[in-house]
Amino acid sequence: YRTLRVALLGAGAVGSQVAALLRRHADELADRAEARLELAGIAVRDVDAPREADLPRELFTTDAETLIVGSDIVIELMGGIEPARTYILQALNSGADVVTANKALLATHGSEIFDAADQVGASVYYEAAAAGAIPIIRPLRDSLAGDRVVRIMGIVNGTTNYILDRMDTEGAEFADVLADAQALGYAEADPTADVEGYDAAQKAAILASLAFHTSVPLDAVHREGITQVDKAMMDAARHAGYVIKLLAVCERLTTDAATEAISVRVYPALVPRTHPLASVHGANNAVFVQAEAAGNLMFYGAGAGGVQTASAVLGDVVSAARRHIAGGVGVGESTRANLPVVPIGHVTTRY
Ligand code: HSE
Repeated sequence: YRTLRVALLGAGAVGSQVAALLRRHADELADRAEARLELAGIAVRDVDAPREADLPRELFTTDAETLIVGSDIVIELMGGIEPARTYILQALNSGADVVTANKALLATHGSEIFDAADQVGASVYYEAAAAGAIPIIRPLRDSLAGDRVVRIMGIVNGTTNYILDRMDTEGAEFADVLADAQALGYAEADPTADVEGYDAAQKAAILASLAFHTSVPLDAVHREGITQVDKAMMDAARHAGYVIKLLAVCERLTTDAATEAISVRVYPALVPRTHPLASVHGANNAVFVQAEAAGNLMFYGAGAGGVQTASAVLGDVVSAARRHIAGGVGVGESTRANLPVVPIGHVTTRY
């Protein structure tokens, strides 16, 4: 096999698992990709920081720019906007394909990054950017490309689902369960991103852009978090036959081409207990997709967690390697002019 040089940026919960799995399954991955994936190095802020996986110290460097030079595949798992954006653009411009889980970056600078990839015929893979281990990017982009998605209702934040689930099933208090979600490693470094719905809004923008073949700006996403949800609300919902879930709803408001518009919104919703989304417990995620021809589909599984999310990242690495070996052009899909996003807030969702 030819050897492809892989650079990893970031060695947090996901990054350290990606590095460990790349090394542990090197032979198997080589067969799948028809290329040997050589982990050339891992760029981090602090070489000596404690890691979740046992990795040789000589792999680590603080010099991301030098590591990127000459790489065939760059995996960006640093998170945040800068310097991740600069490194991704550097990687694309040097001819590398990029794999990223960076929802914040894609939700705010996605167009810039996809355009940069198109210009050089490179590809950006981001299966891990929404709903962790759950395959949802490829299904929306590829498998459903011949259908028309009408609506997505997603539980796309594990931390808030974990909190709401324990409030519902145990009568626990918000503050106590938030601390547990942090200890279990589901929450973002700043849990405000989870509990105020910012993380879910970023994922909603990414999913809606794919589902409706457009580019949804993050500021067009209506966002409410779960900090106002208390035990009394949970109890009232339960007695009425509902459960409160933080939903990301992305839907077409009309199918008439002349007046076509969409709504993308994140808020604590009353979900009937009989709906499949009501049985999504713990830190799991689920994305319920309604398409004109396919009907209802549900994608379910681990939406957070280092090794789980690493699965989605490695799938992307294999795809990138296969494309690289085949000498293919970018996988970027064509998007239409931006569809209007109508600012609808907290409304009753028709199940
Ligand atoms: N903090 C996120 C969550 C991690 O709880 O879902 C995965 O994006």
